[in-house]
Order: sequence, then structure tokens, then C-alpha cells
Amino acid sequence: MIAVEHVVKRYGAFAAVDDVDLEVQPGEIHGFLGPNGAGKTTTLRMIAGLLQPTAGRVVVNGHDMALEPEAAKGSLGFVPDRPFIYEKLTAGEFLRFHGGLYGIDGADIAPRVHEMLDLFELRRWEHELVESFSHGMKQRLVMSAAFLHRPRAVVVDEPMVGLDPRGARLIKAVFRRMSEGGVAILMSTHTLEVAEEMSHRISIINKGRIVVQGTVEDVRRLTGAGDEHFTSIFLRLTGGSGLQEIDEIV
Ligand SMILES: Nc1ncnc2c1ncn2[C@@H]1O[C@H](COP(=O)(O)OP(=O)(O)O)[C@@H](O)[C@H]1O
Ligand SMILES: [Mg+2]
Repeated sequence: MIAVEHVVKRYGAFAAVDDVDLEVQPGEIHGFLGPNGAGKTTTLRMIAGLLQPTAGRVVVNGHDMALEPEAAKGSLGFVPDRPFIYEKLTAGEFLRFHGGLYGIDGADIAPRVHEMLDLFELRRWEHELVESFSHGMKQRLVMSAAFLHRPRAVVVDEPMVGLDPRGARLIKAVFRRMSEGGVAILMSTHTLEVAEEMSHRISIINKGRIVVQGTVEDVRRLTGAGDEHFTSIFLRLTGGSGLQEIDEIV
């Protein structure tokens, strides 16, 4: 479970995140949707405990990030938008190293590493150096790491960027399976189709503020949009900001 309560992040007078409230229940995939610069990454980094909120509170699986950071971070998987991987490690080494950081070792680690490599179709490359991997393979490897320690909540920042259709399909299938196992998943995206297809619920953020929250159906109903395509609802709600970029994507 992830709870974000009235979270604010200010840089000087500028509020990058302005009173954001959202909750992701066990088993829920929550799409965090908004144009570039809306405040998605800043919010996700606060949830991951990498950035301190100016105000408000983050609770991960019952642990307040400010009061119990280790317990909160230990129960969370995080995939940043620009992950750092030690390129001189093999895929297997990277996952064993990551498992060690989260206290999985001894007899538990080898079968779990293999399980993740199988799940993300990387088993053939277990002993290959990460530096030889394609973008899609690296993305699948950081996802393997995020799920390795069996977190009950996972936060992923723009997971589909730069993936080919096959890679994107695989990741969507894994997210669905993990959510069916009770994992709470918060996924940022600026791609409307991804949010619509994957999410049980959606929060739309613009200029640091949540403008709409609910199921895709709720969003349609709340905005009185009828059969209007989600793209145009989104553009209307976000005042057309990020329009150029959205045009390129949809
Ligand atoms: N360290 C920082 N200092 C000042 N402004 C920042 C900083 N980090 C992010 N911002 C600004 O905050 C806003 C939100 O950024 P970000 O959370 O990265 O948006 P998104 O991930 O939705 O594209 C942007 O206007 C960005 O320029
Ligand atoms: Mg971002």
C-alpha cells in the first residue's frame, strides 16, 4: 500500500509538487499520468524516500517514510526514470548484489534471481556483462531488481519509454501478474494508452496538482466527457500543456 498525503515539494517559490494526495491499494495498478514537467518524477522520488517533501507525508506498507525510512524503503521496489546499473557486472551479479542490499542472501538468493531472470526473459544472459545489453534488456533487468525482494509496493517511473512492442507487452504482463499477487503498483507515464490500458485507477497531474483521480470510467464521468476520447479529455484538463509532446506520442 502506498499513501501520499498532502505532499508538497518546493524549490524556492516554485512548487514542483503542490498538495498531492493519492493512495494505491494492494493489488492495484495506479497510473500516474501527466505531461512533461508536471511533477511525476518529483512525487515518485519522494515516495521512494530519495527526496524529502517540503510538507505532507508518505506511508509505504504502513511505514511512515520520515519516521521509519528503512522499513518503508525495504518494503518498496523502485524503478527510476534513468536507472544506474554497474555495467561491469553480469546480470546475475547485479541481481545478487541488489538482493544483498535488501537482505536476501544465502540459500534464498539463487532461486529468486533465476525466477526473476526467467520472468523477464533474461535467463540466457545471466552471465553476460550489463554493458552489452540493449536498452530494453537493461530496463527488464532493473525491473527484475525492483521485484526481487518481494516488495508489497512498487513505484515505476515511465517504464515503457523506448521499449519495443514485445518488451512493453512483457512488462505489462508482469505488472498484471504482480498486481494479481497483491502488489500495489504506481506507474508514471505520459502515454495515455498505457495508463488507460493498464490502470485500475488513474491520477492526472498537471503543474504539480492532481486535476482528476479515479477509474478511467470515473475520469470520463467526472469530466462529463461521454464518449470523448481520453486524449482530448486529458488535453482539456491539462490546458493543452505538453501538447506538442503528446502529439508526437499519440
Ligand atoms: N531540483 C530541482 N530544482 C528546481 N526545479 C526542479 C527540480 N527538479 C524538478 N524541478 C522542476 O519541477 C517540475 C516537475 O519536474 P518532474 O517531477 O521531473 O516532472 P515530470 O516527471 O512530470 O516530467 C519541473 O518544472 C522541473 O523543472
Ligand atoms: Mg519524469
